[in-house]
Amino acid sequence: MKRIVLSVLAIVSSFGIAVADEGMWLPALISQRIGDMRAKGFKLSAEDVYSVNQASLKDAVVLFGGGCTGEIVSDEGLLLTNHHCGYSFIQRHSSVEHDYLKDGFWAMDRGQELPNWGLTVSFLQRMEDVTDRVLDGFVPSMDEKQRDSVIRVNSGEITRAAMEEGKGLRASVEALYYGNQYFLFVYKVYRDVRLVGAPPSSIGKFGGDTDNWMWPRHTGDFSIFRIYADKDNEPADYSEDNVPFRPRRSFKISRAGVKEGDFTFVYGCPGSTKEYVMSEEVRYTAEISDPEKIELRTKRLDIQKKYMNSSQAVRIQYSSKNASVSNAWKKWQGEVKGLRKTKTTAAKQEFERRFGKWAEGTEYEGLVDKLGELYSERNPYFRASEYYSETVRAIEILSFASNVVSTIDRGRSVEGLAESFFKDYYQPIDEEIFVAMIEAFDQKMEDRFKPGYLKGKLSEYGSVKAWKDDLYKKTVFTDKARVAALTKDDLEALYKDPAYELHNAFMTWYAGEIRPVVDNLNAKIRLANRDYMRGQMAFEPDKAFYPDANLTLRVAYGNVKGYSPADGAYYAPVSTLKGIIEKDNPEIFDYNIPQVLRDIYAGGGYEDQPVCFIATNHTSGGNSGSPVINADGNLIGINFDRVWEGTMSDIAFDPEVCRNISLDIRYLLFVVDKVGHASYLFDEMNFAD
Ligand code: ARG
Ligand code: ASP
Repeated sequence: MKRIVLSVLAIVSSFGIAVADEGMWLPALISQRIGDMRAKGFKLSAEDVYSVNQASLKDAVVLFGGGCTGEIVSDEGLLLTNHHCGYSFIQRHSSVEHDYLKDGFWAMDRGQELPNWGLTVSFLQRMEDVTDRVLDGFVPSMDEKQRDSVIRVNSGEITRAAMEEGKGLRASVEALYYGNQYFLFVYKVYRDVRLVGAPPSSIGKFGGDTDNWMWPRHTGDFSIFRIYADKDNEPADYSEDNVPFRPRRSFKISRAGVKEGDFTFVYGCPGSTKEYVMSEEVRYTAEISDPEKIELRTKRLDIQKKYMNSSQAVRIQYSSKNASVSNAWKKWQGEVKGLRKTKTTAAKQEFERRFGKWAEGTEYEGLVDKLGELYSERNPYFRASEYYSETVRAIEILSFASNVVSTIDRGRSVEGLAESFFKDYYQPIDEEIFVAMIEAFDQKMEDRFKPGYLKGKLSEYGSVKAWKDDLYKKTVFTDKARVAALTKDDLEALYKDPAYELHNAFMTWYAGEIRPVVDNLNAKIRLANRDYMRGQMAFEPDKAFYPDANLTLRVAYGNVKGYSPADGAYYAPVSTLKGIIEKDNPEIFDYNIPQVLRDIYAGGGYEDQPVCFIATNHTSGGNSGSPVINADGNLIGINFDRVWEGTMSDIAFDPEVCRNISLDIRYLLFVVDKVGHASYLFDEMNFAD
């Protein structure tokens, strides 16, 4: 009985009134939410959160690299983010002699901090509604193409002008609400960012892919960097003369800890959500797209794992590739489960019935049906494109062949390319994936979408395996020395190489027969969604809407809270060092902790050392590394993940089970001190208590 009541409630609460804790709000408009935030316990003002005139919390938050968030914790540019956000930089500094991934890295003074080419951090200077200027010259009789070009020209002028306002500025105009609104975002980009510290992976990635997207969690997912600037505090390329950056604002760290019910606020850059799409898009995601991609990736991961488990060298080669294939694979599984449990498709259909009634006689009449038809028309083609990218494009040798050929074509040497490809390439894995993926494509793809090339090869060889054997025997792209020696003179022969030929045949099919149809229908869907978004806002004028995530800075707020993952089970909101020791197992790679942690624990007194906590903040991919802030505006944690049962929050936020996972800042302090012996860093941090 309780179950039924709960799921009906979930249906009602997913739509209609904005529910508690759902939402990722624009900081510039936070004055519209501050009343609610304060009612829930927040003690600061809207101006403290976001201001262009005075230093505010936003000045201590950065976009880290191209897809994470970070926060400033000292007046000398010290920055915190996740271990998995710093991972590739830590990896690049690692070698067999200095394996910082395995052993961790701690600069013991400023001179030991390691520069990272290509890494930038971006500070938001301001955001501004520029809708009128962006749409200047647009008239309703224009089609999407003409509208796009008006927008492109106007946005170009707006961003150019904004970038001239200062040094090191980057500006972009972003569409919100499917292009019903446009905002200008101006960032100051610093490009001398040095690695200061990282725990060993056995702490920073503790639990690995086994625990990924799961609670209870015990991952020490942090790394520490420092931003450097020129002597005027302006962005500069790496130079020994650069000095630590002096921020307008940094976070104070609170060691007071968290408990159930505490107010929390996440300030960061969520990447992408689709909360307002119609039921058909959700149905397609939950019933077709996600399940099919999961099935394909299961095959791929099984093959990788089989070889990784039998060789340490292969494990190292494929650990990063395997983790990234696995990350989305596991998230989709939680998403499907969550969408089914909250009956999102049915809830949306019910909403659409009410909307349709209301829309009669308005400009929105028939809109949902039209959208539904567009999706039905697009989805078979969209499925073909997703299948293509999850199968043929998963075969490593094919994209390598294409990279090599285009590099040679541009007159460049391929030595470096060959070096980095073969460093992490294990041919038996690729051959097995080739067979599994091409067979899946052949079995599951509608006949009308099969490239003639595929049919020809299959009838020529009789089986995918026979085709594969011959291809890997004849191709040049499995031979490092031969690839490294290739030049422009070889191009004619390379075009006939069986790996390149296969890549090219599929690419031509995709670019000619699939992508144009998908692009064309997507443009129509985008237009209809723009109307539908506006329609939803008109239909529910009292509801507070927030724009879907697009990697721009957002505020999410909620409170520390446990949840029930299943009938009869309840998860408490806080995890401790005791749980790490319980999971510790030298036989299991993901749970093998460093000896120092065992020793510290055995010494006694650290059973209750907090490690992670969960809360109801609405976050998404890109929020990794985001500061988690308490009612006083002080730093209590670093966001890094979500719980499995709640990963559908990108499509539908269910306050019953959607939780973000954060590292407790006190665990960071513990590891820096006890494992890294780098407590000298505390001298420059500001503590609230
Ligand atoms: N699930 C987290 C986020 O999407 C963390 C992923 C990194 N960790 C891992 N074990 N793959 O991105
Ligand atoms: N782990 C994600 C990230 O890397 C965060 C999330 O999806 O919740 O941004």
